[in-house]
Amino acid sequence: MSYDIVIKGGRVVSSTGTTRADVGIAGEKIAATGLDLQGAQTIDASGKLLLPGAMDVHNHFQLPFCGTVSAGFANGSKAAAMGGVTTFLDFAIQVKPASLMETIAARRAEADPDVCIDYGLHAGITDWNDDRAKELPAVIKAGLPTFKMFMIYRSEGWQSTDADLYCALRESAKYGGMVGVHAENDDLINLFHREAERDGLTGCYAHALTRPTVTESEAIARAIKIAEAAGGRLYIFHLSTGCAADIVHESRRRGIDVHAETGPQYLLLDDELFKREDGHHFATCPPIRKAEDQDKLWQRLADGSVEVLATDTCTFNSRQKAMWAGDFRKIPFGMPGIETLLPLTHARGVGEGRISLGRMVKALSENPARLFGMWPRKGTISAGSDADVVVFDPELEVVISHETLATDCDYNPFEGTKVRGWPVTTLVRGKVVVRDREFIGEPGYGKFIEREPAPADG
Ligand code: URP
Ligand code: ZN
Repeated sequence: MSYDIVIKGGRVVSSTGTTRADVGIAGEKIAATGLDLQGAQTIDASGKLLLPGAMDVHNHFQLPFCGTVSAGFANGSKAAAMGGVTTFLDFAIQVKPASLMETIAARRAEADPDVCIDYGLHAGITDWNDDRAKELPAVIKAGLPTFKMFMIYRSEGWQSTDADLYCALRESAKYGGMVGVHAENDDLINLFHREAERDGLTGCYAHALTRPTVTESEAIARAIKIAEAAGGRLYIFHLSTGCAADIVHESRRRGIDVHAETGPQYLLLDDELFKREDGHHFATCPPIRKAEDQDKLWQRLADGSVEVLATDTCTFNSRQKAMWAGDFRKIPFGMPGIETLLPLTHARGVGEGRISLGRMVKALSENPARLFGMWPRKGTISAGSDADVVVFDPELEVVISHETLATDCDYNPFEGTKVRGWPVTTLVRGKVVVRDREFIGEPGYGKFIEREPAPADG
């Protein structure tokens, strides 16, 4: 049997181990893994790891937010491919009074022509009511079994009440959906903002001071209680604190259907950065935290309590970030991240002995695919799955710099970080979109993935 492409001589990685095997690709699918496979085209992967494409389930491309618009789908998906991400999830955030279905159609019209890798959308609910409840089955049928609700962002018109969250969780559970939350306590943050104003604190470090860990941990504990009472499946986006990671750990031990993600910014950066002149470049919500939070987050990632790594990419360049004009409340919140997700996780997690290679693949590929309804089509190098494969050179040393990354941004939060290990070739559904670190993909190649509700055991 001859395949269209054979990736030869690499070691195939999954959460359960690493196997020396060739990967045979026929059309868009992996047809076989084994030794001595033959193909019309060969990719030499000697000395390399073959990873299932990373999946970044939290991104905001082309998002009108904080008075400006984040960087778009074309560059974002190109940067993703260069970083070994083969599928990303973004959001169709409802702008009232548009329905969810109208919002999804509009968002797809923005993304479809531009994306060079596969993608899906979460439905962002901003006005829970009977119409939204009636829409849920259609939204899930359209391939969006996961939702996002915001416990903050009143000024954007996005905030949901606890009652909204309860009802959405209860209703979505009927159809196997999952509700994700941006969990921060709005009342407390507003109080701390007023106190900062009273005390004349406007600088960037006040972003951290006005969002102490309780503003996240209380909201996460509350969301978990609400999910438990409603009987729904809950996902915590961008968990940032050690204490919240412990709450998730305890809740999961009690059998609550809660799942959590964190990201490289929370594992690797700390809030001392806000004291720098360019501190506003690092401002995101929730804020980056302290070294002790990082240690706990690594521990909870390693023990599986935090199941997913994702970036919350929401890229604003330095001109956009300058809109803060010295007032921390006006910073466009968000950072670049999708391109460095896999190399940073590998170098700082696996390379420095904090997590195993198997855990990395679980957090970047297998768990996202399972939880977000794409398994086993995606997230694994197995016969029958989409041929989303990353040839990863574990020895290649790279110094992260905005000047050499594909991400179109004039700074990078991880600028100057030395990493060992970088993706060199990326295939999406059997097509080589990055070859030897050169981007050869095309806008519009990426497909919208209609996802299924995940099975109860995730
Ligand atoms: O600051 C952030 N994270 N911006 C993107 C929107 C969100 O909260 O996820
Ligand atoms: Zn958020």
